[in-house]
Amino acid sequence: MGPRSISIRPEAREDYPTVHDLVRRACRENEARLVDLLRESPEFVPALSLVAEMDGRIVGHLLFTPTKTTGGGTVLALAPVAVDPPFQRQGVGSALVLRGLDECRRLGYGVVIVIGHPDYYPRFGFSPAREKGFEVLFPVPDEAFMVLELRSGALESARGTIVYSPAFEVCDEDPEV
Ligand SMILES: CC(C)(COP(=O)(O)OP(=O)(O)OC[C@H]1O[C@@H](n2cnc3c(N)ncnc32)[C@H](O)[C@@H]1OP(=O)(O)O)[C@@H](O)C(=O)NCCC(=O)NCCS
Repeated sequence: MGPRSISIRPEAREDYPTVHDLVRRACRENEARLVDLLRESPEFVPALSLVAEMDGRIVGHLLFTPTKTTGGGTVLALAPVAVDPPFQRQGVGSALVLRGLDECRRLGYGVVIVIGHPDYYPRFGFSPAREKGFEVLFPVPDEAFMVLELRSGALESARGTIVYSPAFEVCDEDPEV
């Protein structure tokens, strides 16, 4: 049997509870709450909250949130990315990231920042962000803090310290599960 087909679409309101449960299973309750909080934030772009479906069932989700830098620019923060554990390592995360990056380009964004697995994101073109002039206000290993330029020249106007939405503080709280 060949690989099962994965379809990607914008998240709908009706998907919110399913996505909350999925993110909780793939990550923690903290990240599930992060998604809920980011959806309520003024920066939320519904077209950049995507779900992946296999056989009509939601198996993955990712979200990009426009975020200011101290340099006066805007970057997209990619967080979180979550694939339902039984469906991991079947191409769902890659399909979400690739389609998501296309959508970011289509909407005219120039730079994406991610804090994540250093073995995973370079395959999409991400590289260490500090070398490109970005910083964060909390400790993160150099190799886990990554950036991708979507439009040539966009890094210059965006660089600086990332001013994350206060919603991200939920990730530092003690996990409830
Ligand atoms: C990380 C994650 C999004 C990747 O999605 P996925 O659908 O499993 O990944 P894909 O099938 O697209 O890609 C598989 C590749 O990614 C690699 N990969 C998967 N999870 C990885 C991880 N945690 N660290 C490093 N590499 C990982 C696999 O080794 C595989 O590499 P290969 O192609 O060289 O064999 C997914 O596994 C996940 O949700 N994990 C738990 C939640 C998480 O850590 N999210 C990020 C912070 S909330």
